Amino acid sequence: MSVQLGDIAPDFEADTTDGHIGFHEWLGDKWGILFSHPRDFTPVCTTELGYVARLKPEFDKRNVKAIGLSIDPLDSHKKWAADIGETQGTALNFPIIADPDRAVAKLYGMIHPKHDEVYTVRTVFVVDPAKKIRLTITYPQTAGRNFDEILRVIDSLQLTDGYSVSTPVNWKPGEDVIIVPSVTDEVAKTKFPKGWKALKPYLRLTPDPRN
Ligand code: BEZ
Repeated sequence: MSVQLGDIAPDFEADTTDGHIGFHEWLGDKWGILFSHPRDFTPVCTTELGYVARLKPEFDKRNVKAIGLSIDPLDSHKKWAADIGETQGTALNFPIIADPDRAVAKLYGMIHPKHDEVYTVRTVFVVDPAKKIRLTITYPQTAGRNFDEILRVIDSLQLTDGYSVSTPVNWKPGEDVIIVPSVTDEVAKTKFPKGWKALKPYLRLTPDPRN
């Protein structure tokens, strides 16, 4: 099954390092990052999970909860957690789903058989408070993800949900944003009182409206 942008994130129940959860209930009114990693006790995955634990203050600022997944069993996750704390400087502070029967992996299309028939690839699903899928990214098993980029896209989504803007290439919070083409100059005068720079009629840059 492929899970696409705009779909409602499929709900599931699973055992995790923080106990048994129902995914939608666990998310509550927060944004969520659901991400799969191939295996426990592997080097790239260890660095990724440590980094996600270190990002907790950034997730909290944005009302985001993270949850990992691999097809390894719960006792393996729990033993590996000690290694993550020891080597990455931060103890695991978010749940990891144990998915030994691959139920969640299949539901979300996390196994790409031509890449690896058995283990999940590195997928990322960002879910909004309405449980809608807002971002999907798939990385190969050998490349650790850039979780700063995932945070950056969440910043863009949270901004563009509140204003008639989109964000340009490599945008970072605080930088100029783009007034969406469906907003006429007449309407833009009231929506964007700080004004804008029109490089083309369809390319109008305005300061971040939250500043
Ligand atoms: C790793 O986490 O290091 C890894 C896992 C599976 C395949 C390749 C690398």
